[in-house]
Amino acid sequence: MQDDLDTIKTRILAATAAANSLESLERVRVEALGRKGRITALMKGLGAMDPETRKSAGAALNVLKDDVAAAIEARQEDLAGATLDARLMEEKVDVTLPVRAEGRGRVHPITQTIDEVIAIFGEMGFTVAEGPDIEDDWHNFTALNIPPEHPARQEHDTFYLPGMAGGHRRVLRTHTSPVQIRTMGEQKPPLRIIVPGRTYRCDYDATHSPMFHQVEGLVVDETTHMGHLKGCLIEFCRAYFGVEDLPVRFRPSYFPFTEPSAEVDIGCTRAGGAFRIGHGDDWLEILGCGMVHPKVLENCGIDAARYQGFAFGLGVERIAMLKYGIGDLRTFFESDLRWLRHYGFPALHIPSMVGGLNP
Ligand code: PHE
Repeated sequence: MQDDLDTIKTRILAATAAANSLESLERVRVEALGRKGRITALMKGLGAMDPETRKSAGAALNVLKDDVAAAIEARQEDLAGATLDARLMEEKVDVTLPVRAEGRGRVHPITQTIDEVIAIFGEMGFTVAEGPDIEDDWHNFTALNIPPEHPARQEHDTFYLPGMAGGHRRVLRTHTSPVQIRTMGEQKPPLRIIVPGRTYRCDYDATHSPMFHQVEGLVVDETTHMGHLKGCLIEFCRAYFGVEDLPVRFRPSYFPFTEPSAEVDIGCTRAGGAFRIGHGDDWLEILGCGMVHPKVLENCGIDAARYQGFAFGLGVERIAMLKYGIGDLRTFFESDLRWLRHYGFPALHIPSMVGGLNP
């Protein structure tokens, strides 16, 4: 019996050593130790032996089984290592190859424009304030002296949320002006803030989108007057458009929350079908402004006999379209990657007020 086992062992070990792939080694293992394997068959034969023989034969068979299993396992490790070595030899990394261009994101023109506006007013000493997109009637309309019949209050111009208990309805703010009210309610003058943010109106065409952006400005102090408003906004227009002697015109206008009110136009030319900002025979409106109405100050608990202020609001999409030659306002929000790659800005492009004036 032992002789037989020795012969079997020699044969299996020879086959193990000869196996030169993981697949052929697996065949050797199945033939020896698998369910129908040689050694398995011998083990099964133990049951038919008398107890004495079974004892010694069982021990010898177990030794054989362990030796064979260990040899196969060792060979398996060798072959696996060799396979890996072969792959490493084959797959070379060429460190001299040029680096593949990395896809970088771009800064959206809206973000870029807001950053530029903040940089310009930041250098004039303004700080940034924010308010909620969902407003109540008081902040969006009433406190701003907007009368009940004003068109901005109409159903078809403004997005209202479902009514709440007590008949109150909240609105998606129609302008950033409610942040004037919030700031004056929370802080004491002197105030000097700008408010970039989203605003909402029921409008949709090439120059209107139901969601758009504004930057509001508010200055309140004891000696603030119309001259400050004009100087500040002329300086802004020239810095933002990067035209040092840009013509800027203040045209009388009306807003319920400012008195007097004005609209600001910048000089441009449309000669020969080409639009250009700067000296020319034409004007283009870019923002609304005025001296804060005394009623608005009083609505916020500010003594209008002592304090005065000015405010302005500008449309971000509008000034971005003008500066960067973007034709259709709706494209800002279509998330077309080709458009974003074309009109977007490289990250870490730090804007500065002096960028336009003193490069
Ligand atoms: N809120 C006005 C609008 O959306 C703009 C504005 C702001 C005008 C502040 C005057 C003062 O049209």
